[in-house]
Amino acid sequence: MSSVYIHIPFCKSICAYCDFCKVLKRAHWVSKYYEALKAEIEERYNGEEVSTIYFGGGTPSSLGPKALRHYLSLTNLFNKNKLIEFTFECNIDDINEELLSILKEYGVNRLSIGIESFNPIKLELLNRHSNYEDAKQKMKLIREYGFNNVNLDLIYAVPGEDEDSLKDDLKKIISLEPEHISTYSLMIEEHTMLYNERVKPIDEEEDLKMYNLICKMLKKKKYKHYEVSNYAREGYESLHNKTYWHNEEYYGFGLSASGYFDGVRYTNTKNLTKYLSGNYQGEEELLTKKDIMDNHLMLGLRLLDGVDMEEFERLYNVRIDKMYPIKALLKNNELVASKGYLKIPHDKIYVMNEILLKLL
Ligand SMILES: C[S@@+](CC[C@H](N)C(=O)[O-])C[C@H]1O[C@@H](n2cnc3c(N)ncnc32)[C@H](O)[C@@H]1O
Ligand code: SF4
Repeated sequence: MSSVYIHIPFCKSICAYCDFCKVLKRAHWVSKYYEALKAEIEERYNGEEVSTIYFGGGTPSSLGPKALRHYLSLTNLFNKNKLIEFTFECNIDDINEELLSILKEYGVNRLSIGIESFNPIKLELLNRHSNYEDAKQKMKLIREYGFNNVNLDLIYAVPGEDEDSLKDDLKKIISLEPEHISTYSLMIEEHTMLYNERVKPIDEEEDLKMYNLICKMLKKKKYKHYEVSNYAREGYESLHNKTYWHNEEYYGFGLSASGYFDGVRYTNTKNLTKYLSGNYQGEEELLTKKDIMDNHLMLGLRLLDGVDMEEFERLYNVRIDKMYPIKALLKNNELVASKGYLKIPHDKIYVMNEILLKLL
């Protein structure tokens, strides 16, 4: 079984914080990119059964109806007999009856929508547009079209934001009743408008307060905190993203896409001209057994359920406590071992990077 990520790099406008691999949409690129993507899939895909597909970006929903059908039909190249989850990333502005009916027709069963905020001051800084009344209408339409697995993205810790404004955003997002919520603390990355405008991040103490507020409010509304930044109603955790956190293999197709196969981690070229000319090669690294074990631990500890210690031993033929200095961390309560799982306790998940440093 395998998972598939497909990167669609086109956006209708560029957000001030975004350092994803994306370009403003141009019609001639859309058709050429389709050909390059098809060629890459035909060359790389080995015919395994595919359990999850994820169309991410960029903004896959920015494709017009004709191109969208073309791109979605690429999934016919895969063995989909055991497909259980098919996610498609959308910008809320792009959602309409035509888009939803095409997605339904091609078997999409999970939508991931970048809302980010409803606060006009935050939105202006982020160079985004969302409107609560419009989002309510769109969610109604989404449900009418039978989509019952929806993720909404929220960005917090935006300079100028306080806990009251975050509370207001959270209340509105919760009122839309998504099955899944992803929350991201704003990162000011190089080569973004925010970075160039010398916008400074909020201080860490404030960030932690906001993080705790999110955990508390979402818990009250029965969203399970299952990964550092992700919350889901019972039964709606993202199966695709869990393949990453479980350190399982997956294909990444498209500009800048990453994949993991046969012990090799690869990232495709980020150069659009090169990709369009049919040369998708970027970087690749053959992992050692130690690298694979480190990744297993690093990724697995992002999950609140933690790492299955028996499975670790079965996969690598060595006990986790023989490989890593977990005893001292268990003693300090920076790690917990319970029911066969090794995990970071909930009150320390915010400082998980410090714990991982000690561990690795
Ligand atoms: C590819 S985008 C989602 C789909 C679509 N492109 C959109 O923006 O609506 C993935 C998500 O990552 C988050 N994100 C992107 N850049 C970020 C940054 N610099 N800091 C925090 N979160 C970020 C946003 O929540 C965004 O919705
Ligand atoms: S956040 Fe999404 S819509 Fe905005 S530029 Fe990045 S990929 Fe495009």
